[in-house]
Amino acid sequence: MRSELFFMILAAAGSSIAQQPKGNQEDPCKLKARVVGDETYCDRYWECVGGQPELYDCPNGLVFAGKNRGVTEGCDYPWRSNYCDNKQQANPPIGTDHCDWLYGIFGHETSCTRYWTCWNGTATEQLCIGGLLYNERTHSCDWPENVDGCQKHPLCNDDPNGNVALGKSCNRYWQCQGGYPRLQRCPAMLVFDRRSLRCVVPPTEDCDVPSTIPPPPPEEEGDENIPQNNPKFANLPPGAIPIPSKNKQRN
Ligand SMILES: *[C@@H]1O[C@H](CO)[C@@H](O)[C@H](O)[C@H]1NC(C)=O
Repeated sequence: MRSELFFMILAAAGSSIAQQPKGNQEDPCKLKARVVGDETYCDRYWECVGGQPELYDCPNGLVFAGKNRGVTEGCDYPWRSNYCDNKQQANPPIGTDHCDWLYGIFGHETSCTRYWTCWNGTATEQLCIGGLLYNERTHSCDWPENVDGCQKHPLCNDDPNGNVALGKSCNRYWQCQGGYPRLQRCPAMLVFDRRSLRCVVPPTEDCDVPSTIPPPPPEEEGDENIPQNNPKFANLPPGAIPIPSKNKQRN
């Protein structure tokens, strides 16, 4: 039942090519998995169907990753592993608006904080949050210093060394340091004043005296500028994990 379903999904995604395995190509019908990568092309695989090996293409832009692996069952983004070491791709890119290939994650034409996820040629605009920028090399959101060509974050455009209010937060704010935003917290009992852009003694126009109850830890505040546990990421395909390298995280 499981393998039938697997075959149906692969068959819907790729197209079968009538061909017999040649040379050193492993015969999928002799393998327990019943599926094996093509030995020459990383975007092709052989599947045992009705006792016969059949050659399939991965969806355009994806490469063979192994049974039940990857973003479609069996195929994955090429940059997620060494799938194409010593192998070529048989199929050329099929581009659509914003998509270099039908499937993939691509940089935005005009913005460092946005990028496109493409699924069967349909592009969906995504946004890097929490001061992160899209990194073309890792295909994910990353700290600005790791992103070539996008060193400064637009948050800090007005003043590369100024403070910027963070949503409606009364105690957290962005501190720009040479164009890089850093998340900061006002000292206890002070609140961020969005007019003077400083931590001040409350009350301000927007913020009352803080309660004496300690604030919940940041990941529970539900602030949408903070990457952790953000429901927006639930819609991302598995390749677009927007988690910055932990050792670069600062307060
Ligand atoms: C991809 O889109 C085309 C039309 O744009 C459609 O015919 C095809 O069924 C779609 N394939 C998948 C796997 O969704």
